[in-house]
Parts: sequence; structure tokens; C-alpha cells
Amino acid sequence: MEKPWRGRLAFLVLALLLPWAVGALESAALLPVRGDALIRTGGDLETDFAGEEAPVVALTFDDGPRRSTTGALLEGLAQRGVHATFFLVGEMLEGNEDLIRDMAAQGHQIGIHSYDHVWLTDLSAADFEREVGRTRETLRSIAGEGSYLLRPPYGGVDRGVEKRAGSPIILWSVDPEDWKDRDVERIVSHIVSNARDGDIILMHDIYQSSVEAALRVVDALHEKGFLFVTVEELAQHNHVELEPGKVYRCFYP
Ligand code: NI
Repeated sequence: MEKPWRGRLAFLVLALLLPWAVGALESAALLPVRGDALIRTGGDLETDFAGEEAPVVALTFDDGPRRSTTGALLEGLAQRGVHATFFLVGEMLEGNEDLIRDMAAQGHQIGIHSYDHVWLTDLSAADFEREVGRTRETLRSIAGEGSYLLRPPYGGVDRGVEKRAGSPIILWSVDPEDWKDRDVERIVSHIVSNARDGDIILMHDIYQSSVEAALRVVDALHEKGFLFVTVEELAQHNHVELEPGKVYRCFYP
């Protein structure tokens, strides 16, 4: 008869290794960006594969697209292998179709920030449709089918917005108020000192100062071992299934 402790020992070793193996597989599957970051930033992130999970955040940009600034941002993000989420304003889409297709092709996520940047609260069903539905349709005609998450201007949400959203509603957990003083140093330091695993960071890609700050934030947080993903990837990474009409501010683990 076989010694029973051998079987038990083998089982114990398997039981100890299984969570690690599943975790490693899961990270590899859900975070393709991790591979990119490894190649681009050198050896800094390599320990993450074997040891602790790296903190993961989502950079989000509202109010665009604006050709000069959004174009420069896309270029900078591509150089750094980083994917972000852009909440676009419907009336800014015309004439920027190529920019939006580039955005989608480069792996960024695209969402809706209303048609003419108005409060979505207290709107009639028809007005809501003109603001959100129309923008969604235009985005579909430019960039194809997609989830097109909703970020209401000013973060304004009421029961009507929740009922009519037609997609998950994405707010934020880190707000450097980059539109206020356009001070690159201050914006960078606000984000870098506040960012933690699972945060959704709010910025605006219509200002040159914000583009410069965003790219410096990426470099500084890469140094600290952070990874950048889209909002949907961040939710998935933290095992949250996004639901239409529900409000999300962060995805803390
Ligand atoms: Ni806005």
C-alpha cells in the first residue's frame, strides 16, 4: 500500500500553489497593459509577476476631443503604452472623426459626456435622448459598436439620469481640478500623492497643461509601480460587473 502521507503532501503543495497560479493567469489575462509596461519601463515592474499585485488606476479625460491637445495626449500615451478612457462631447465629434477612430484603434475606451455639455438632471426623456442617445449614435457611426459608458457633466446624477442612462454611470475618486489654475506642478502633485489602487482619475484633455500633467503623472506613477487601464478593465480587474444606470466612483480592491 502507498504511504498515505505522500498523497496528502502532494495535495498540500497543490493547494498552496493553486491560488498563486490562478492569480498569475488572471493578471496576465486581464491586464495586457502590464506586458507593455514591462517592455517600456524596464525591470521595475518585473517583481509584480512573482510577488504583490501592482496598484491599478484609470485615467479619464472629459470635454474633448480637441484636435491640438487630444492629439498630443494620444501620442504621449501611445509612447508610454498606456490606455485611458475618454468621455467625449457630442458637438465636438464632427470634424474629429479620424481622431476618434485613432483613439479606439489604440485601445482607449470611449464614453459619452452629453451632446453640448449640459446638466443631465431634470431633463425630459426627449431632451435626455438628444443629449445622450444622439451622442451614442454618432459615436457608433464613427467608431462602431461599443459600451459607451456615461459620465454626466459636473457629475450630476438624479433618478432620471439613472433610469435613462442606458449604460453604467462613471464618476471619479481623484479630482485635481485641472481646469482651475492650469498649474502643471500642482496637478501632478495632487494626483501622484492621492492615487491609490482602484482610483478613477478625472482630467480634461482640452487643456495643454492637463496633457502635460497627465503624461508626467503616468511617468511618476509608473516609477511607483502603478499600471494604467481603461475604466472597464479596472472594473473587470476588481471583479465588478458593470450595470446600466448604476453609479461608480472607483473600484477599490
Ligand atoms: Ni465636463
